[in-house]
Amino acid sequence: MTRLTVNNQPIRYALAPDTPLAHALRDASNLTGTKIGCSNGECGACTVDIDGRAVRSCTVTLAMVEGSFVTTIEGLARDRDHPVQQAFLAANVSQCGFCIPGIVMSAAALIGRERDPGDDAIRRAVDHHCRCGIQPRLVDAVRRAAALARGDERIAPVARPGIDAEEAAAAVPALVAPAKAD
Ligand code: FES
Ligand code: FES
Repeated sequence: MTRLTVNNQPIRYALAPDTPLAHALRDASNLTGTKIGCSNGECGACTVDIDGRAVRSCTVTLAMVEGSFVTTIEGLARDRDHPVQQAFLAANVSQCGFCIPGIVMSAAALIGRERDPGDDAIRRAVDHHCRCGIQPRLVDAVRRAAALARGDERIAPVARPGIDAEEAAAAVPALVAPAKAD
């Protein structure tokens, strides 16, 4: 049994200690925003935050991260409005989206520890593989995310793709309300 805190929830994984964290997150916790591409630490698709650092979760086993605080893309910001997410959305960074969760987690960790990262630091932090060719827009978007996080810039709200958070919240009572007895 391996104990971790994942997205602020204490979790005990009944999996072999040598299970890669990426597999535990996806297969046992159903946190499928963490993608698996190469499985050998190269592509960055599986990046999560572990104790404040961006880590390629296919490269660490449960035993290696016992007791750690892990944040996945699902836990980064409740309303998907982390400065990196806002900046990426405003700049239309995402294409197919496969690599985006990992890149967002790396960029978020960077601006969490450096208020005003330079272009070289940004390039090193988001050196992920992207088959859609988003790299030309990445550095600008991460620089802008850092400015947002510092409060030096604002972005007009952009409609978020998928389910609107307010609509989703409003829908929950209807889904869970007990059936009335006739
Ligand atoms: S799947 Fe982990 S780095 Fe590629
Ligand atoms: S956006 Fe498609 S792989 Fe990066």
